[in-house]
Amino acid sequence: MTTPRHFITEDDLSTEQFVKLIEDAIAIKASWKSGETRDTLRNRTLAMIFEKASTRTRTSFEAGMVQLGGHAINLSPKDSQLGRGEPIEDTSRVLSEMVDVAMLRTHKHSTIEQFAAVSAIPVINGLSDLLHPCQLLADMQTFFELRGNIKGATVTWLGAGNINMCNSYINTAKLLDFKLKIACPDELKPDNTFLQKCADHVEVTTDANAACEGSDVIVTDVWASMGQESDTDTLHKLLAPYQVNQDLMKIASKDAIFMHCLPAHRGEEVTADVIDGAQSVVWQEAGNRLHAQKALLEMLIL
Ligand code: CP
Ligand code: NVA
Repeated sequence: MTTPRHFITEDDLSTEQFVKLIEDAIAIKASWKSGETRDTLRNRTLAMIFEKASTRTRTSFEAGMVQLGGHAINLSPKDSQLGRGEPIEDTSRVLSEMVDVAMLRTHKHSTIEQFAAVSAIPVINGLSDLLHPCQLLADMQTFFELRGNIKGATVTWLGAGNINMCNSYINTAKLLDFKLKIACPDELKPDNTFLQKCADHVEVTTDANAACEGSDVIVTDVWASMGQESDTDTLHKLLAPYQVNQDLMKIASKDAIFMHCLPAHRGEEVTADVIDGAQSVVWQEAGNRLHAQKALLEMLIL
């Protein structure tokens, strides 16, 4: 079996491949919006396994396959044999016989790695407890569309430093060569393995104001990620000082943009006037999931 190309972590791409994917995504979006049709993935099938809820990831992958002439199948563990204990490796081997690409959203990152280890088809990480690389494709596409190449820019992450989205931002800061300032409580600092790998690109502080100074992008995420619901009260207390509000936006660069992977909780990690305000680009960001992943699917399958 030749090893297929996967997208499980941002590090599966080189800097050049990441930038090329964004450029392709922008071109695919323009062509779709101008009414052109594209059937590069005609007769191709994507299988999607969701251990956790999803609105954007499921819709963008399914619509993306349709827009490229292909098809997507959703396999919820609840309704498939996975829920009755069929090993993930056996599921992977079976899907390799039937479909062209697989996307998994899992609790444990290791589940995606186990699936990929025996897969004959490309595997995409649609979010794990460790990383959310598809979201970073869309976030970076959004910055490139609005401000050009992100190399040399400053991005501020506010919130838990040890969650999937922040880890993915750390990886991407190194790959695309931007400065990432992370403001988080000491208790929720990023894991050292991420920090050490990307030390030249990342600064960590507990001071939200200092982290936002002069920043080009302010980004945050829900305080309690999927699977962390039992820690909600503790997380809310720890993260309250890191809420994105107008005072923090004023400290950032005058034309700073606000991003959030969504779903958002107004009044918690972000105030309504910021997420619904003029600096917010969250709808464009969400929409770009569709186009960035079409570029990704073509790259992996063709
Ligand atoms: N941002 C994101 O992945 O959204 P969903 O959980 O709705 O897929
Ligand atoms: N950190 C969040 C991202 C949701 C898209 C979670 O894992 O729930």
